[in-house]
Parts: sequence; structure tokens; C-alpha cells
Amino acid sequence: MQILVTGGAGFIGGHLAESFLEDGHDVRVIDNFEPFYAEGIKRHTLDVHREVASESDANYRFVEGDVRNPETVREVVDDVDVVVHQAAQAGVRESVDNPRKVTDINVDGTVNLLEASKEADVDRVILASSSSVYGKPKSLPYEENHPTEPVSPYGVTKLAQEHMARVYTELHCLPTVCLRYFTVYGPRMRPNMAISNFVSRCVNGEAPVIYGDGQQTRDFTYVADVVDANRTLLESDAADGEVLNIGSSDNISIQELAETVRDQLAPELAIKYESAREADAEHTHASVAKARELIGYEPSRTIAEGVGEFIEWYEANRVWYEPLVRGS
Ligand SMILES: NC(=O)c1ccc[n+]([C@@H]2O[C@H](COP(=O)([O-])OP(=O)(O)OC[C@H]3O[C@@H](n4cnc5c(N)ncnc54)[C@H](O)[C@@H]3O)[C@@H](O)[C@H]2O)c1
Repeated sequence: MQILVTGGAGFIGGHLAESFLEDGHDVRVIDNFEPFYAEGIKRHTLDVHREVASESDANYRFVEGDVRNPETVREVVDDVDVVVHQAAQAGVRESVDNPRKVTDINVDGTVNLLEASKEADVDRVILASSSSVYGKPKSLPYEENHPTEPVSPYGVTKLAQEHMARVYTELHCLPTVCLRYFTVYGPRMRPNMAISNFVSRCVNGEAPVIYGDGQQTRDFTYVADVVDANRTLLESDAADGEVLNIGSSDNISIQELAETVRDQLAPELAIKYESAREADAEHTHASVAKARELIGYEPSRTIAEGVGEFIEWYEANRVWYEPLVRGS
């Protein structure tokens, strides 16, 4: 199978491309190295892809390009069986500061992808959406039919993307599936996320910093679970035209997360608190019943287990990753 991963030099797209290559698929990646965080992390990911591709004898091609350019997108989608669309300006705070750029990438870029996929008659487009589409919880855990009232420009762009995908399915019979990821973590994760921050501070003997009172709750989803959901969808039409939550098995507060990391690495440290950041959701918690029913999705790790694995990975990769994660 020929798969296109947009944003494939990034954290989640990088893991997806790596796993597809391991399975022997031919993989094309498009990424523009958006300077949101250290490029070195993305370069490292591309090196991993080349290594895996040579071991599994799969075809691998990296295209440095921008999904905002319709011509580039048309060229890269040509001959592709499945498009896995991860390219986006992620990050709620960036979207507050720069809403137009986030809209250009996340909405216009997605339209380019859908339009090219329709023209090329691809079998399926799988799109990365986000728990940010829910915004204000009326009931938890979120089921997919919970009202959507995003509280950030980022959430609005992800919701617009979902609607655009639905319309392409309805109008043009282009099979699409939107996966609402709930805070994803794991090896090579983006800097400036709670887990990478807490770990990099604690291993250096610095207190973890919580923004707000720490009572915000989150699902933290291990990246391998996100990969599993996408892998299943390569071959399955069971969720065509649907949106699915992709979350974790347990839900914890930021306070508990900071304590989990601190207790594993530096129990003597006291936790620090700074003022809350605007447009962060208060609580997110996924019901994964629909994903379980349609695609057999099952989160594989508790947060304590996943955090333990991430810490192990961090320590083994500290030499190259830490300067990049702390310098961003
Ligand atoms: N990480 C999370 O917790 C999380 C949660 C919910 C949803 N998501 C979504 O998952 C997807 C992947 O997120 P991530 O955490 O891997 O982020 P990431 O920033 O690591 O990856 C996104 C990649 O897209 C690339 N990109 C950005 N603009 C581009 C453009 N115009 N053209 C081509 N490439 C471009 C970036 O260079 C980057 O490599 C995104 O769509 C994000 O919105 C992530």
C-alpha cells in the first residue's frame, strides 16, 4: 500500500510513518519543518524512517513542502492509496497568538488535501482531529455526540476540518475518518507539553511547574495507541464518515501527573504553580466506546506505565533529545 503521511516529520506523524514502514508499506511524507519547535527532533525522526525503510525494504520518500500549496499537495497525493493527515499547527496557545496562520494551515491545508484526494480517488483519508473540538464539558466522559463549543481558535480549526471531511464524504463519496486525539505523549514528543516539561525539569533537579491549580484533568494517550487506531483504519472501512475519540484508559489531574513524574525521578522536589494559561480546556476525558465498537480500539497502558516508559526512553535518548526539548 502507498501511504501519504502529512506532517510526518512531526511527533505523531513520525510514529505513524515509522510503523507503516515497519509493516512494509511504501510511505511518502510531506512536511515543511514548521518552526514551532526544534527542527532537530524532526530531522532525527526522518533518520529513523530511512533506517526502518532500509531494513524493511519499503519505499520511502520525504518531500519538503507545504500543505497550503495546492499544486504541491496534488503532486504528492498522486498514486496514493491512503492519506493520513497530521500536518497542522498544533498548540492551543499558538492559535490564540496567531489565529490566521493556524486557520491557513489547519483549514485551507486540509481543503487542499481533500480536494487532491478526491481528484486522485484515494481509498481513504484519515484525519487528526482533537479533543479541543469539545471545549466546554456538559457531561464527561465526552461521547462523540457531545456538543462542540471550542474555546480556542485551534479547536475551531479542528472542528472546521472535521466538517469539511464530512462534506467531502457526503458530496463526493470520499471515505474519511476523523480521530479526536486526547493529549498524546511518548518518545520524540513535542517540547512544551506537560509530560516533556515535567520530565525534563525533574531529571535536571528543577521543580515541575503547573500552570493553574493543577486540578485540570486530562486523558494522556500513549502514541502507540494512536498508531494502532490509524493502522487499523488503513484496511478497515468500519468508521468511514465517522469521528472517533482516541483516548486513554485512565484520566488524571495535572497535579497527579506532576506528582507521578516527580515521584519517579526526584521525590524531594516541591511542585511550583504559575498562573493558568488562557484557552486551555479545564477538563478532557474520552469515552472510547465508539472506537472500541467500530475498530476494536483498546488503550494499552495506564498513565503510570506510559510515563514510566517515556522516562526510560528520555534517559536513553537524553544526549540528543534534551538540548532540543529544553532549547525550544
Ligand atoms: N500531540 C497531541 O497531543 C495532539 C492532540 C490532539 C490532536 N493532535 C493533532 O495531531 C496532529 C499531529 O500533532 P503532533 O503533536 O505530532 O504535532 P507536530 O507539530 O509534532 O507535528 C505536526 C507536523 O506538521 C508539520 N506542518 C505544520 N504545518 C505544515 C504545513 N503547512 N505543511 C506541511 N507540514 C506542516 C510540522 O512541521 C510538524 O512536523 C496535528 O494535526 C495535531 O493538531 C495532536
